[in-house]
Amino acid sequence: MYGVLKISMEKQKELYSGKAKSVYTTDDAQKYILLFRNDTSAFDGKKVEQLDRKGMVNNKFNAFIMEKLEQAGIETHFEKLLSDNETLVKKLDMMPIECVVRNITAGSICRRLGVEEGLDMEPPTFEFFLKNDELGDPMINEYHIKSFGWAEAEHVERMKVLTFQVNTVLKDLFLESGMLLVDHKLEFGLYEGRVILGDEFTPDGCRLWDKETRKKLDKDRFRQGLGDVVESYEEVGRRLGIHFDA
Ligand code: TMP
Ligand code: ASP
Repeated sequence: MYGVLKISMEKQKELYSGKAKSVYTTDDAQKYILLFRNDTSAFDGKKVEQLDRKGMVNNKFNAFIMEKLEQAGIETHFEKLLSDNETLVKKLDMMPIECVVRNITAGSICRRLGVEEGLDMEPPTFEFFLKNDELGDPMINEYHIKSFGWAEAEHVERMKVLTFQVNTVLKDLFLESGMLLVDHKLEFGLYEGRVILGDEFTPDGCRLWDKETRKKLDKDRFRQGLGDVVESYEEVGRRLGIHFDA
């Protein structure tokens, strides 16, 4: 009789394949499985490479960060690690919006506003982007979100509050391990009417610099062809105390 009891969750149908992760249904209608692949992409999918170990490293990195956020009282979709490359998550109704916080100038803000890289932003600044590769993820504002119905006004407010909370928790976490959280991108979805953190938090979606040397330890190593991409992600993880080899 007990043979029919499922003790492990298995992937069923692939629902969606993004640039670095795939999403699968499971036999629980309220849960999905995220598969972290080795694919590494930048510039809205124009530069793509397979990097050995990256899926495993990002899967474990994400699990560590999501657990830290949960411990800090921030609700996330993370349920549990299933394998080296798979994580079980709650099914969310995702909003097609990216929330970016910047503590230090880098990347697109330097190009858009003509400011130099490496300036402290006090207070940190916040930007919304529309999740749309074909359009190159354009920057949008709250009026666009409300006018086009991409999210409700109260959910927009909640995303901002949560993004700043995540920033506060993670800025301190990285700083304690000798790193600066330069900027990061979050995506949110609705679960039982609440806005909760979805997607991932990995060095693919944030910028991290060594505090002393300001060496780049995130996906800018890939974007800028600096090499040692996954090695740097593992270095960040090692400093945080993550064990990649089970
Ligand atoms: P940006 O400087 O290109 O605007 O990016 C700011 C931060 O947000 C950076 O850490 C990368 C991350 N990000 C993504 O991961 N995906 C995106 O689509 C965007 C717009 C930003
Ligand atoms: N994640 C975004 C993209 O794929 C931004 C980047 O990584 O450059 O274009």
